[in-house]
Amino acid sequence: MSDMCYKKVQHTAYPLRSLLWELISATEPDNWVPYYNFMALPIPKEFVKEDPFLQKLSEKRDFQAGLLKIPPHTVYNWHVDTDRNCGLNMLVYDDGQSKCIFAPEGMKIVMPTVELRYAPNIFYAFNTKVMHTVINFTTPRYMFSLEFMGKDYGLTYEQLLADLKELGYGS
Ligand SMILES: [Fe+2]
Repeated sequence: MSDMCYKKVQHTAYPLRSLLWELISATEPDNWVPYYNFMALPIPKEFVKEDPFLQKLSEKRDFQAGLLKIPPHTVYNWHVDTDRNCGLNMLVYDDGQSKCIFAPEGMKIVMPTVELRYAPNIFYAFNTKVMHTVINFTTPRYMFSLEFMGKDYGLTYEQLLADLKELGYGS
């Protein structure tokens, strides 16, 4: 059931994660902007060139990458994303306890769930049209996330998985 919620990209994104952490550390708090209930920081295009997978994806698809920040002791309630069908995520920093949980059969009193346990330096294709929630605990949680834009606005999760296979990063 996890494949319909998320899919691991066969690629290790070192050293992008440490570069993103440097960006976070160097950014004034005022430069984060409100974005769909998160605080967000757009990522300059130069960062895409630091990662061979993102570089390849950018040759095929138009996207904007950003960092999303959730404060400590915060839950992002069950939802599906309104403005995108899929995304591509990598956890940059948390306290090791934050949770991302999908409900592939939708909301019920008692319902099956699928947890996405983010491994370090790993991207995941994320089906934002499956109900999901984020629970954060003791520290700010920083997520790399990209959304498809321009000619690729509305790209579906299935199309993204097909891209990963075509580019040699699928499974
Ligand atoms: Fe979401």
